[in-house]
Amino acid sequence: MSAPRLALATNNRGKLREFAQLLTGCGFELVTPADLGITFEVEETGSSFEANAKLKAEAAAALCGLPALADDSGLEVDALGGRPGVYSARYAGGDRTSADLTEEQQVQIVLDEMRGVPEDARTARFRCVIAIAAPGRETRTVEGVFEGRIAHAPRGANGFGYDPIFLVPSQGVTSAELDPATKNAMSHRGEAARKALPLLQELARARD
Ligand code: IMP
Repeated sequence: MSAPRLALATNNRGKLREFAQLLTGCGFELVTPADLGITFEVEETGSSFEANAKLKAEAAAALCGLPALADDSGLEVDALGGRPGVYSARYAGGDRTSADLTEEQQVQIVLDEMRGVPEDARTARFRCVIAIAAPGRETRTVEGVFEGRIAHAPRGANGFGYDPIFLVPSQGVTSAELDPATKNAMSHRGEAARKALPLLQELARARD
């Protein structure tokens, strides 16, 4: 018998690849709305990762008529009052956002804002919330965090986003210097995915 399908609420093939790996053995075949010929566009209007993840998962479940999984993630810098937070993908400094900046420009904005902040006040974390929505069930959420510090200059070529300035103290490197398997084992997304796995397995069994 073929596996039931789970809609992954994203248009990003990279995310599909990453989640397919992280959720191996979940009991579902992962598909994107695009695989089903469905256009998926949701405005992330929530003020928390949890609210945005729920918004995306419930929209994808309704659009695709399938159980759906969405994630929302970002960087929280303590010295910046938790910014960029939910605005990480479009952070333009302070309370400004822009869809037109490159990741390199965003990294530079955070570095500029952190100029002069002493070592022990450079604490930060990546946070990821995964939401699982299924018709007739209450949406479930799980969370993962990855604690670190903001570096003084970018380093490393792996990963994406703010990885080049995210120091992983236990490794003495930035998360852009970690190989993907090591990053998955330590990261916010990896932790959230490991928590999501048994929820998905239970959901898949219930649909058999
Ligand atoms: P979203 O979860 O797809 O809405 O995007 C979250 C944004 O947070 C990304 O565009 C990155 O800027 C940032 N981010 C989330 N996770 C990571 C990570 O693992 N490394 C670097 N940046 C991240």
